[in-house]
Amino acid sequence: MGDAPLAIVLAAGLSTRMKSKTPKVLHPVAGRPLVAHILQTVRAVGARPLVVLSQESAPARELFDEGTRVAIQDVARGTGDAVRVALAAANGDRGVAFIVYGDTPLLRPETLTRMRALVRQRDAPLVLLAGEVGTDNAYGRVVRDERGDVARIVETRLATSEEKQLKESNLGAYAADLDWLRTAVDRLRPNDTGEIFLTDLVAEARREGKRVAVHLTDDPEEGIGVNNRADLATAEAVIRKRIRDQHMLAGVTFRDPDSCQVDSDVRIAADVVIERGTILEGKTSIGAGSRVGPYAVLRDTTVGERCRVENSTLEGATLEDEVSIGPYSHLRPGAYLERGVQMGNFGEVKNARLKAGTKMHHFSYVGDAEVGQRVNIGAGTITLNYDGVKKNRTVIGDDAFIGSDTLLRAPVTVGAGATTGAGAVVTKDVPEGMVAVGMPARAIKKADRRQKKAT
Ligand code: UD1
Ligand code: CA
Repeated sequence: MGDAPLAIVLAAGLSTRMKSKTPKVLHPVAGRPLVAHILQTVRAVGARPLVVLSQESAPARELFDEGTRVAIQDVARGTGDAVRVALAAANGDRGVAFIVYGDTPLLRPETLTRMRALVRQRDAPLVLLAGEVGTDNAYGRVVRDERGDVARIVETRLATSEEKQLKESNLGAYAADLDWLRTAVDRLRPNDTGEIFLTDLVAEARREGKRVAVHLTDDPEEGIGVNNRADLATAEAVIRKRIRDQHMLAGVTFRDPDSCQVDSDVRIAADVVIERGTILEGKTSIGAGSRVGPYAVLRDTTVGERCRVENSTLEGATLEDEVSIGPYSHLRPGAYLERGVQMGNFGEVKNARLKAGTKMHHFSYVGDAEVGQRVNIGAGTITLNYDGVKKNRTVIGDDAFIGSDTLLRAPVTVGAGATTGAGAVVTKDVPEGMVAVGMPARAIKKADRRQKKAT
């Protein structure tokens, strides 16, 4: 990829129409910031992105892959000025460059490849992407000449009522010859709005007798530009549908696809069944033959093969194969369930390992613990992991039987094969194989809950 083309990604600008404290390009779409979607697209065609950010959107650079170049546009003087800023930071680049907007997340890689080819084929230093998206929108209108080349782009807010009726809109993606682009951008001047429009490049080309070619997309949806929250929702819906379709073509069953949300980075193996209302977020992955949902939320969670997760919330958890969860359970970060663990309703596990074959069926909390193999955790068992100052660990050995309503006051260890009776309050270690029953708590004095004066 020696001569990887440059891709200028415009992501500065004021994004006033979002009415948000968060810069537009940082708003999440399908689990990634808006700008990350177009970055993925330009990388898919082998281009090297250079992102133009404002001071406000500069934090986005933290999210970029290494090697993504960034240029800062101090003042949002318009899209033409943003490209000038980018070019000043891209001295060494040659050949054909792409220019795309950070707010068009749906652009397809094949479209960019096609546009790049047209620069040579049509002998046009500038090729732009147009689409027939109706006339009720804020896109720039494409005015063609008798040869079919672009004569001008006119922004809707500056267009005459006739121009507004033009069928073709500028979808905001360009391929340009870099040598030409450098000189042409320097000649752009602010227009009546005070802004420098990238779209005025068309007039620049024409003045030099050069042609500007159009690639008309057959899928105008790919040009959706996100300017406000309604556009954001529209784009998100399209991306989510694309994600689900990809998974379905790869062998995943969605019983009610429209009711499910799957983030961009989620991995799902073949023969997984996703039931309705299921939300898969972040870096979640699901192994072959598992069934998830209905109404499950999985965030940054790894699910093994042939697992069953029903109507539960799993965050930062790991499930080995053949684990069954729910309904109505909650796994929190650091929950690690080994092969064949069964967890029923109203259970919570946090920062704890449950070893193979352990069962925890009803109303239990296990936090900061290590639970052995084949342990039975009776209904209502609670690890008292927090003493008001720090978190303490509970250790339960293999084949232990924890009776219903056992309270385990950490730090405490229940030995392998030990049993606790129903309602036991375990404050001291239970040796291997022993039975421990009863409640050591006894009344010693009357509680005085009134505030005592310091003496
Ligand atoms: C732009 C096009 C319009 C096209 C539409 C397609 C211009 C003048 N108009 O209009 O013809 O139909 O996109 O979606 O280009 N930006 C900067 N710096 C700036 C201004 C903007 O980096 O000074 C970035 C924004 O972050 C945004 C992109 O450029 O990602 C486009 O800017 P925006 O203001 O959204 O342009 P539109 O009005 O949508
Ligand atoms: Ca826009």
